[in-house]
Amino acid sequence: MAELVVPPRVGVAERLAFEAGFTKSCLPEVGRLLRLTAASKPRGVIAESGTGSGVGTAWLHSGLGAGARLVTVERDEVLARRAAEVFADDDRVSVLAGDWLLLERHAPFDVFFCDGGGKRDDPERVVELLAPGGILVLDDFTPSPHWPPRFEGEVDELRLFYLTHPALDASELLTTSTTSVVVAARRL
Ligand SMILES: C[S@@+](CC[C@H](N)C(=O)[O-])C[C@H]1O[C@@H](n2cnc3c(N)ncnc32)[C@H](O)[C@@H]1O
Repeated sequence: MAELVVPPRVGVAERLAFEAGFTKSCLPEVGRLLRLTAASKPRGVIAESGTGSGVGTAWLHSGLGAGARLVTVERDEVLARRAAEVFADDDRVSVLAGDWLLLERHAPFDVFFCDGGGKRDDPERVVELLAPGGILVLDDFTPSPHWPPRFEGEVDELRLFYLTHPALDASELLTTSTTSVVVAARRL
């Protein structure tokens, strides 16, 4: 069977994560979804909160159109600086150091991978920052057979918020047998 190919820049960012002891990079299964969403908006503004070492950024970058822009923000300045070096040769990419709200000046977003800042602390703002038709990706959920979804026995209010938000068409997708993502599009 053919092996799944990981884009070279993802490999660079994964090595950086290893060297930095950073363990929160997205899974390749999420990465492929990120690439797909970026590729679906070839002239779009693609945003990420929580760069980490740049693994998710590199997956988004692998689907980035010639007329698109990618902006990502990381509050850990050392990580942000190292991740910025991974994309230093591409002026479509901006790696910001600071709080996720720095992203606001680049909104509205055609794709938003909300992975550090915003997702839990200001979910309504996350939705507001999407362009009409903009796609939101949220990972790190645990699949639940229940409705409403539960996590560790309790209703997962955050997941429910995104899945039922009136401005979103949202769905939960399995990425592995033990992990899921919420993907949503902002209504026009
Ligand atoms: C799950 S990791 C990001 C992984 C990365 N998106 C990837 O896919 O490889 C979350 C990151 O968000 C950063 N973070 C958390 N809160 C933040 C905030 N308010 N503003 C900016 N970055 C934040 C953390 O420092 C951490 O590096």
